[in-house]
Amino acid sequence: MTIQIINGPNLNLLGVREKSIYGDSSFETYLEEIRKRYTNITINYYQSNVEGEIINKLHEVGFSIDGIVMNAGAYTHTSVAIADAIAAIKTPVIEVHISNVYKREEFRHKSLLAASCKGVIAGFGMDSYRLAIENLVNG
Ligand code: DQA
Repeated sequence: MTIQIINGPNLNLLGVREKSIYGDSSFETYLEEIRKRYTNITINYYQSNVEGEIINKLHEVGFSIDGIVMNAGAYTHTSVAIADAIAAIKTPVIEVHISNVYKREEFRHKSLLAASCKGVIAGFGMDSYRLAIENLVNG
């Protein structure tokens, strides 16, 4: 089984950025833990701050692999183009957020992507990614 994690803008700064909201672990450190936990699956990771690159990655992997775990960051709330890409591909996508977006500013309450996703997981810190992987593996 192959799963692709895609992180969008500013998520390269995890561990540095707004630690009170996003925690103090870098994504790379978290990824090592997750890969140790799921040794029988291939977990690929891609991060980009560029909307078109995220769309290219969805097109590249979205017809062949088993699942995509996607934190599109702020593009979640703005990107019709990423929503269209998710709708266009065959691989199921789970939208994840580290923070509970519903406890935050109102503009974060709306996801343009959610309607095209298998489901949404928000508010469990980095564990949101593991919960999404767990669903793709066992769900
Ligand atoms: C986020 C929430 C978004 O609103 C924000 O723009 C992010 C991170 C999260 O993981 O909690 O960049 O997707």
